[in-house]
Amino acid sequence: MRLLSALLPATCAFALVIEPTAGHLRDSVALSNIHRPSVFSWLRKQSSILTSTEEGSEDADFAAWLSTQSALSFEGILANIGPDGANVAGQNVKPGVVVASPSREHPNYFYHWVRDGAITMRALVDEYEMSGNTSVKAIIDAYVDNVRSTQWTSNPSGQVGRGGLGEPKFEVDGRAFVGTWGRPQRDGPALRAITLISYMRALQRRGASIDSLHYLYDLIKPDLEYTSKFWASPGFDLWEEQEGLHFFTAMVQYKALLLGEQVSSDFSDQGAGRWYHIQANGVKQFLLSFWDDERGYLVETLATARSGLDAALLLGAIHGGSETVFPMHSDMIIASLQALVADMRVRYPVNEQDLYDSNDGPVAVGIGRYPEDVYSGGDLINSELGNPWFLCTATVAHTLYGLVESLALSNTGLMISNLTADFYLPFLSRTIEPDYYDFSATAAWSRSATILGFKPGSRETEQVISNIFHYADGFLKIVRKHSDGEGNMSEQFDRQTGFMRGARQLTWSFESVLGAIKMRERAVEAIEKRRAFYKRF
Ligand code: NOJ
Ligand code: NOJ
Repeated sequence: MRLLSALLPATCAFALVIEPTAGHLRDSVALSNIHRPSVFSWLRKQSSILTSTEEGSEDADFAAWLSTQSALSFEGILANIGPDGANVAGQNVKPGVVVASPSREHPNYFYHWVRDGAITMRALVDEYEMSGNTSVKAIIDAYVDNVRSTQWTSNPSGQVGRGGLGEPKFEVDGRAFVGTWGRPQRDGPALRAITLISYMRALQRRGASIDSLHYLYDLIKPDLEYTSKFWASPGFDLWEEQEGLHFFTAMVQYKALLLGEQVSSDFSDQGAGRWYHIQANGVKQFLLSFWDDERGYLVETLATARSGLDAALLLGAIHGGSETVFPMHSDMIIASLQALVADMRVRYPVNEQDLYDSNDGPVAVGIGRYPEDVYSGGDLINSELGNPWFLCTATVAHTLYGLVESLALSNTGLMISNLTADFYLPFLSRTIEPDYYDFSATAAWSRSATILGFKPGSRETEQVISNIFHYADGFLKIVRKHSDGEGNMSEQFDRQTGFMRGARQLTWSFESVLGAIKMRERAVEAIEKRRAFYKRF
């Protein structure tokens, strides 16, 4: 096997041609200025892409873990919801309040965060929509009641009906939290609106009439109003540290406004609909400013001194992405994922073992919030170094499954651009060395130009889909490795030892793993459909 880098005239868009061995030549479609062929041979074994059920096999173990862990994650979430959750019962937690973690010291997370609460309830809404489970519905209804009283609670971010909706966290008995904090955080109302709207839709699908759902619109509307009026104002980021304008925040604001436009028309609130439409377009334009062409990835915060790389970029795609704006499979999200993972791979000593153990393509590792993080999960700030987080690691898996689903459902084949070449090429052949595709040498090239394409049904396309799926599984296996035998997950795991650190039984950790597993199920379904279509795989 031989690999040749393409040597190109500086003026033409960079093209790397990977020409498969003779038999598959016809499957390769070169889409732009293809210049020089190189020999390519894909090496990955075509192992069973879905989980085999052969007992005792690694795949069967993983499949068993997935199903146990989704059940345990769901239980873990319920355990942290008042008043009766196993971890919070008898501790004066109001019905429908989602406690971030039962940990009361080092750190004290015994509060209701608006963000964590909305994201978690969204998972319960999905469950209710699927199963119609009435006890889940009762919990969501309690949350809804609690949203009403929260919205009417004056707090340090401001008064009822005004700035107060930007308050990030509340006491578990519903009172305002009055200590110093990074406030306001403007993602909260948007996330809450998204959750309430999805609940409304779930109720409709289960037969409720629009007329019976006015009480929900009365709660959704203040959050939409807040979002529509403050999206251009700086606030604290989801990690509660940086004041500024943030990608994650803008993404969920965009989604809330898009959904809000539809909902307002259901309630014949035309004026509001037009207003949300205009504002949504504003946010959409604004979102483009987070792309940093020089760095080749999205930045989480504008004008930040940090690198801008952040797991929040992926969380933005998961919770805010739409068909038109930064879906999980978009090149810009994938390029950002690639850059983030590349950083994290070498950042934490605990990842070294995984890198060392593997001789098989790109390796999944533990992922932290962002490279510069110094929060080690206790009380002290700036005294230690950050660690990988369960939710960030699960988020990479989730995003990759989202990509797999979209690739599997697409009939346009695989398109690799300058932006995503670093991500995709290693899945084609692990023997390609980085300097074989050093694009920096080419003067004039467009980042988004497709440099290589493969037809749907070609061995290469199908290989890449399968390999990315396995790669995604790798991130969940990291989660498995560092959680305990009972499916518990704290916030972080130690950068050196891998042992759990930070707030224990973090609600959001459970939600994120559950979310990734759900996305995996969708990816599997899409792959199965595809296989039925392209019979040869
Ligand atoms: C608690 C915050 O929630 C966390 O995000 C932050 O990193 C630490 N405090 C340190 O500021
Ligand atoms: C700290 C995290 O940075 C923040 O995003 C989260 O809302 C709180 N902890 C509560 O889990």
